[in-house]
Amino acid sequence: MEIKTIGIVGAGQMGNGIAHVMSLAGYDVLLNDISQEALDDAMELMSNNMARQVSRGKITEEDQTAALKRIRTTQVLTELGQTDLIIEAATERETVKQAIFEDLVPHLQPHTILTSNTSSISITRLASRTDRPEKFMGFHFMNPVPVMQLVELIRGIATDEQTFAACKDVVDKLGKTAASAEDFPAFIVNRILMPMINEAVYTLYEGVGSVQSIDSSMKLGANHPMGPLELADFIGLDTCLAIMNVLHDGLADTKYRPCPLLTKYVEAGWLGRKTQRGFYDYR
Ligand code: CAA
Repeated sequence: MEIKTIGIVGAGQMGNGIAHVMSLAGYDVLLNDISQEALDDAMELMSNNMARQVSRGKITEEDQTAALKRIRTTQVLTELGQTDLIIEAATERETVKQAIFEDLVPHLQPHTILTSNTSSISITRLASRTDRPEKFMGFHFMNPVPVMQLVELIRGIATDEQTFAACKDVVDKLGKTAASAEDFPAFIVNRILMPMINEAVYTLYEGVGSVQSIDSSMKLGANHPMGPLELADFIGLDTCLAIMNVLHDGLADTKYRPCPLLTKYVEAGWLGRKTQRGFYDYR
């Protein structure tokens, strides 16, 4: 089955990045959020990010105009039922995601594929709440979506081969690389990345190094483009904590215990860049 239209749930950091790359690849996009302000902000951000790509010679002005025209926004979730492929990119909370899928199910076309951009939650469990576990899988982008080359594709226990092939074809059309992952907590990237970030927070908590020395050690000593604490601020400390909790609960190993300092920052509402304060102060 050829995918032509893509519905995206959530216009935040990930949702608008996904809409950006899908529209540039020629797909018609229907972007949904409960907040009109979030939809307006997402359109403005995509326009600015595309303008940056124009100025760097990555795309032309015509590409930008055509891509933005291919994106429609709606506050009505059920309208997405008319699309061929839905990518849910809402908050990383299982109850929120489940409620979205349950609301969508009665409005879907028979062929519509359901996917989640979850960074850690069980695809099999999310799929089991829908009428189509065989047409359900994980479609996990990395942030910033327009820049990062990887997309993790995660099969749930019931995902069929046509569904996987259709999603793989979309990743190919985006010019990105797919990594196939089995459905275990946090899949591949976050299974490895989050314990590293959590360990960096422990390193700070135990006073081994300052924020600056931890980050510059990993940038200059391990050639990472961002230090782990800067990256945690970029991803969102609430998301990092949620993923550590999924690892800790799902794998029942104390090596995944979230650092108490990470929990404390989240409790303080210091979530990183999005709240202007995390390990760094952006105010
Ligand atoms: N849209 C379009 N282009 C963008 C962009 C965006 N949102 N953000 C950055 N860019 C482009 C810039 O225009 C620039 O393009 P050129 O190479 O043509 O000049 C390029 O990306 C580099 O950007 P900058 O010059 O502004 O800054 P930088 O060199 O410091 O790179 C970065 C920024 C790409 C974010 C880099 O620091 C980086 O790779 N950081 C690590 C990111 C990472 O690890 N992401 C994964 C997070 S984990 C995840 O996402 C999974 C999860 O579930 C939590």
